[in-house]
Amino acid sequence: MRRAIGLCRASGALATLAALSRKQCACEDLRAQDLRAQQKLAFTRRDPRTGFEMRLGDPQGMNHGPLRIFCGNAHPQLAEDIAAKMGIPLGKATVGRFPCGEVNVVLNESVRDCDVFIIQPTCNGGAGPQEHLVELLIMLDAIRRGAANRVTAIIPLYGFARQNAKEKSRSPISARLVTDLLQVAGAHRVVTIELHASQIQGFATFPIDNIYALPMLAKEVERLMRKRGLTAEDIVVVSPDVGGTKRASGMAKMLCSPLAIFSRQRRRPNEPAEVDLVGEVQGKTCIVVDDIADTADTLCQAADKLKARGASAVVGAVVHGILSDPACELIMKSQLEAVFVTDTIPLGDKLHRCPKLEVVSVASLLANAILRIHSSQSLSELFDRHVE
Ligand SMILES: *[C@@H]1O[C@H](CO)[C@@H](O)[C@H](O)[C@H]1NC(C)=O
Repeated sequence: MRRAIGLCRASGALATLAALSRKQCACEDLRAQDLRAQQKLAFTRRDPRTGFEMRLGDPQGMNHGPLRIFCGNAHPQLAEDIAAKMGIPLGKATVGRFPCGEVNVVLNESVRDCDVFIIQPTCNGGAGPQEHLVELLIMLDAIRRGAANRVTAIIPLYGFARQNAKEKSRSPISARLVTDLLQVAGAHRVVTIELHASQIQGFATFPIDNIYALPMLAKEVERLMRKRGLTAEDIVVVSPDVGGTKRASGMAKMLCSPLAIFSRQRRRPNEPAEVDLVGEVQGKTCIVVDDIADTADTLCQAADKLKARGASAVVGAVVHGILSDPACELIMKSQLEAVFVTDTIPLGDKLHRCPKLEVVSVASLLANAILRIHSSQSLSELFDRHVE
């Protein structure tokens, strides 16, 4: 009897052992599969458009767990472009709404111990900035509670950034509120493009990586100029206001061209501000540089004034083409010949409504940023390479 029990126990333990080793085998199989997948990805590729190299699947990068990329409904096209550039599929998730309208996030695959990236600009277009922000927050929460190793929010357009200081009595500092929300929701890191105000980086205790897209725009402007047979001496880079001087002077340096600046001054109280132009534009092709074109008012007015001062042509170069209505129609009617924008925001039918728009994709820039973060490489090298 005892022996039988003993035997029974023994066989039970054996069975458990066998099951365990089967599990281990399955684990090792999975690990081997992952490794094979990684090795398959481990090659470098040169992006024909931007001409810089992408390092895929760096084996050193495995310390944060397997790479996963998800997106909400703000800009699925950009997320798909990024995933395609990296040669990996987007994570399976459905970001929908409950019948009452609340955001409902379903992650259809495990994120346990993964290095997760969520691509979601908090932009207009589609359901609007508020909806996109809440989608992002709830996705962050779902992924954090799904035991991800690390979550990085890729927010190509970091919305709510314009209210970043208490300019007037009783005004909110929305940018600070948004960084607090991201932190509480569980973001370990944020990557954004051309952050509107750099002090926002100081609002959060997690790192906010600000990537510059102007070098990409500069390259496109250069290409256009070369096509027209213009040289650096024929171009002037223009900042539409004093606040944007640093950005414009960076662009001017990249193009080896001079700089002009619009300065707004109220000479006497209660009189409209007068606009002065510092710099010479007579007979030149002007490149008006800005980070955001929302109503495109500033851009169009700058174009009018530059033309009035004898500029031969005016081209806009803007990172975030928010282009709230009726910006497209305004640009079409304006003196602007072309406006370069990036696809940090879905442009939708604006491309048809405004044929003057020239889109430069940030997909490879962000794909590179993700790979560099995943494989613990510096992001600053990425900027340097883009500035070249
Ligand atoms: C995820 O699961 C939900 C519910 O089971 C389903 O409705 C949805 O289609 C799935 N999404 C994907 C991308 O598989």
